[in-house]
Amino acid sequence: MHLQNLLVFTAPVLALSYRFNPLEHSAGIAPYFTPHNPPIQSSPPQGCNVTRASYLVRHAAIYANDFDYETYLEPFIEKLHNTTQDWKRTESLKFLSNWTAPVSDEHIEKLTAVGLQEARSLGKSLHKKYAHLKTPAKVWSSTADRTVKSAESFISGFTGNHTKSVNLTQIEESKTAGADSLTPYKGCSEYSSSYGSDQSSAFIKVYTKPIIARLKAEAPSFNFTQDDITGMFELCGYETVIRGSSPFCAPSLFTSEEWLSFEYANDIMYFHNTGYGRDLSASLGFPWVNASVAALDDKSSSQELYVSFTHRELPPTVLTALGLYNNSAYTGANHVNETMPEDRVNYNRAWKSSEILPFLTNVAIEKMSCKSYGYDEGEYYRILNNANPQPLVDCRDGPGGSCSKKQFHKFLKEREEQFGDYNKACGGSHLPESLSIYEA
Ligand SMILES: *[C@@H]1O[C@H](CO)[C@@H](O)[C@H](O)[C@H]1NC(C)=O
Ligand SMILES: *[C@@H]1O[C@H](CO)[C@@H](O)[C@H](O)[C@H]1NC(C)=O
Ligand SMILES: *[C@@H]1O[C@H](CO)[C@@H](O)[C@H](O)[C@H]1NC(C)=O
Ligand SMILES: *[C@@H]1O[C@H](CO)[C@@H](O)[C@H](O)[C@H]1NC(C)=O
Ligand SMILES: *[C@@H]1O[C@H](CO)[C@@H](O)[C@H](O)[C@H]1NC(C)=O
Ligand SMILES: *[C@@H]1O[C@H](CO)[C@@H](O)[C@H](O)[C@H]1NC(C)=O
Ligand SMILES: *[C@@H]1O[C@H](CO)[C@@H](O)[C@H](O)[C@H]1NC(C)=O
Ligand SMILES: *[C@@H]1O[C@H](CO)[C@@H](O)[C@H](O)[C@H]1NC(C)=O
Ligand SMILES: *[C@@H]1O[C@H](CO)[C@@H](O)[C@H](O)[C@H]1NC(C)=O
Repeated sequence: MHLQNLLVFTAPVLALSYRFNPLEHSAGIAPYFTPHNPPIQSSPPQGCNVTRASYLVRHAAIYANDFDYETYLEPFIEKLHNTTQDWKRTESLKFLSNWTAPVSDEHIEKLTAVGLQEARSLGKSLHKKYAHLKTPAKVWSSTADRTVKSAESFISGFTGNHTKSVNLTQIEESKTAGADSLTPYKGCSEYSSSYGSDQSSAFIKVYTKPIIARLKAEAPSFNFTQDDITGMFELCGYETVIRGSSPFCAPSLFTSEEWLSFEYANDIMYFHNTGYGRDLSASLGFPWVNASVAALDDKSSSQELYVSFTHRELPPTVLTALGLYNNSAYTGANHVNETMPEDRVNYNRAWKSSEILPFLTNVAIEKMSCKSYGYDEGEYYRILNNANPQPLVDCRDGPGGSCSKKQFHKFLKEREEQFGDYNKACGGSHLPESLSIYEA
């Protein structure tokens, strides 16, 4: 009888409560969000206090990066200026009759006002979350304008505008620094920013075909191309972080299934570029993990909170170095490519770029002191991705899916054996192969 009541009274509410949000499927252009996947509480487990933490943060929302602008946005925007298509005669594209582009070449790579605000909010929320920890003496950033400005906004938010209480240390985005930088892929001759684009293109061709046919039926004079479609999906995210909303996000334009395909095409690209699709990825992410753990364990250092700002490439390699979001996990096999087919969406994959690298994405390693029911008293570590705890696959003997100090160091040593040789992974170079910026 209870169950029946429950069904009668909650079913309509449940039916209304789900609303597809394209922004949470916008891959590298997704505004910051916490995915709640798995929905483990973000606050420390029962009986645990965070004693130190290390954060790696992607810069906040920008108007557009140069690649997206030159490849997709600008050609589409120019084509709109030239077209003879009468948009008023269309259905889902009516808004194009008076739509104006939110971005031009003067804006490329610049942070938006929304982005600056979000970086400030992240600072505020970490200050609140770690109120019991010392204000960091230093925050680090790679030298690009967008990473530096994101760090400055973060510091303003963290300190309530007492920005002088924190020193921002800029780390050169140099090729010769190798692993001793916040951009270790730059010095790695085995890394190429185009990895994954062939695999991604194969799927883009598949999923855009019916979209092009549908839009062509509405607007026969425009001659939609694959790149136009990619540009339109991207404009939903970019226009939202610039103007606050975008007609390109409308459910009448692209269906949820189409959005999931756009997201998946990006996932394929990042999978091969900075994820499990390439053995190199974990070797690029390992130095940050190793240096962070060393800093969290360094009793001679008085800094308790470490925060560094970088670009979208590094956080996914760090997650790969940690073995998180591995499509093959728990399978006992390692069929890397088979988990990301290029002719259809693997909806059940673990690797989702919208969760892994949205604007302001942040990976954290927290060190905790615990006295929790059912567990040995002591120190434990856990990983958070965008405030969402991500229990390690093979290191989960602590409260709330955390990992005991002993097991964590064993895990780290195993990862170092597999992925600790930066120079070898990068084709035999002779560059600095560990990250020393956190050393006191
Ligand atoms: C738009 O028209 C201009 C002038 O005719 C031309 O130079 C340009 O290539 C056209 N752009 C596109 C995207 O068709
Ligand atoms: C375009 O027209 C619609 C409907 O008349 C209006 O609501 C909207 O503000 C206009 N947009 C722009 C950018 O002028
Ligand atoms: C920042 O750096 C300056 C110059 O090295 C130093 O004098 C100052 O104490 C530092 N501030 C903090 C908060 O560590
Ligand atoms: C810090 O400065 C910003 C921008 O000037 C302002 O919006 C914000 O309210 C200030 N915060 C505090 C805590 O004073
Ligand atoms: C339509 O676009 C395709 C691909 O860019 C191009 O090859 C073709 O010439 C275009 N057709 C017209 C009518 O503009
Ligand atoms: C991903 O999972 C598979 C299966 O457990 C494992 O063999 C592989 O080493 C994992 N990859 C990484 C980079 O951890
Ligand atoms: C996965 O595919 C790429 C090319 O798409 C290939 O270079 C690589 O060797 C493949 N990996 C495995 C494990 O088969
Ligand atoms: C956590 O912090 C609280 C409040 O400071 C303290 O009472 C408690 O003993 C601490 N627990 C551990 C395990 O350190
Ligand atoms: C990992 O850190 C240890 C000590 O903190 C250091 O000796 C080692 O060189 C580092 N290894 C890598 C690959 O970063």
